[in-house]
Amino acid sequence: MAGYTHHSSQHTQAQYISPRDTLRGLVKETVREEIRGWEARVRRREGEKEHPSTLPTIYIITPTYRRLEQIPELTRLAQTLMNVPRIHWLVADDAEVPNPAVVDYLASTGLSYNYLNSPMPKKFEKQPTKPKGVANRNAGMDWVRQHATEGVVYFADDDNTYDIRIFEEMRHTQRVSMWPVGLVTEAGLSTPVLSEGHFKGWYDGWIGGRKFPVDMAGFAVSVQYLKQMPGAKMPFVAGYEEDGFLKSLKIKPEEIEFKADGCTKVYVWHTQTKKNKPSKRTLLDTKYDATNLRVLQESMMLAPA
Ligand code: UGA
Ligand code: MN
Repeated sequence: MAGYTHHSSQHTQAQYISPRDTLRGLVKETVREEIRGWEARVRRREGEKEHPSTLPTIYIITPTYRRLEQIPELTRLAQTLMNVPRIHWLVADDAEVPNPAVVDYLASTGLSYNYLNSPMPKKFEKQPTKPKGVANRNAGMDWVRQHATEGVVYFADDDNTYDIRIFEEMRHTQRVSMWPVGLVTEAGLSTPVLSEGHFKGWYDGWIGGRKFPVDMAGFAVSVQYLKQMPGAKMPFVAGYEEDGFLKSLKIKPEEIEFKADGCTKVYVWHTQTKKNKPSKRTLLDTKYDATNLRVLQESMMLAPA
């Protein structure tokens, strides 16, 4: 956790910290982040005045895990969600214990959220193709079943790109809604196929014997319907997470609500992010003691996970 409170040699710090910052430094990091969150919340409330509070809530379940890109990815997604009224963000971390960097970042966003710890069961960790984000999404659904009474559930991975229009497309979902997702496999696209508004089949670069060959970002489920299907959950089978979950919802293709102008618009992309090399260890050189680099170091996750 970055913070001035970790530093004892006040006089060497003084040249980098203004009197205002020194005062702030007396306040604990988390409290400062919460103040930032409060400020962001006030700003957003101003913007929400035009939106009726009767809108269905969108419960966004985001699996995440510790890596160099984690905070940058969550930042991009959070700043997308800041533009969406009536959302509740369930950030489900593939981690045994809370990650302070994530805890502090979430507090700073001012979003309505819960942070869940949902580690992948140990037995799957050794598999060559791991069921990524499955424990996380099931934990998010458990939370929704316990706490939500209305609204819609959407699985939003932390590394996709979302046009905020997708959230309005899904908001009034009755049971299950679907739409195209861009940049999926070599096909470049995963989408239901429609003709004159009627369901004809699926387009996806990898069918793999799936009944529902769709991407995780391509559908939403209403809270009410999810609660009517208490047995619905995501299986720990890599590649078959969406298919297994949609089958467990017992939804028929003809019951699905097709959105995004009859599936003619792409509002979400499976962008993926380049894996960055670990940061240079030269920052650890003692010549940087008592400099701002010591503060930055902590936020860069130089320490192995
Ligand atoms: C693709 C799909 O978009 C995912 O929805 C699907 O879960 C995944 O394949 C799969 O079938 O395993 P992909 O881009 O290959 O996703 O995977 P990631 O983006 O690396 O992971 C999916 C989500 O799980 C992300 O939100 C990521 O933060 C999270 N994750 C990944 C974990 O929680 N733990 C991990 O070890 C890896
Ligand atoms: Mn991904």
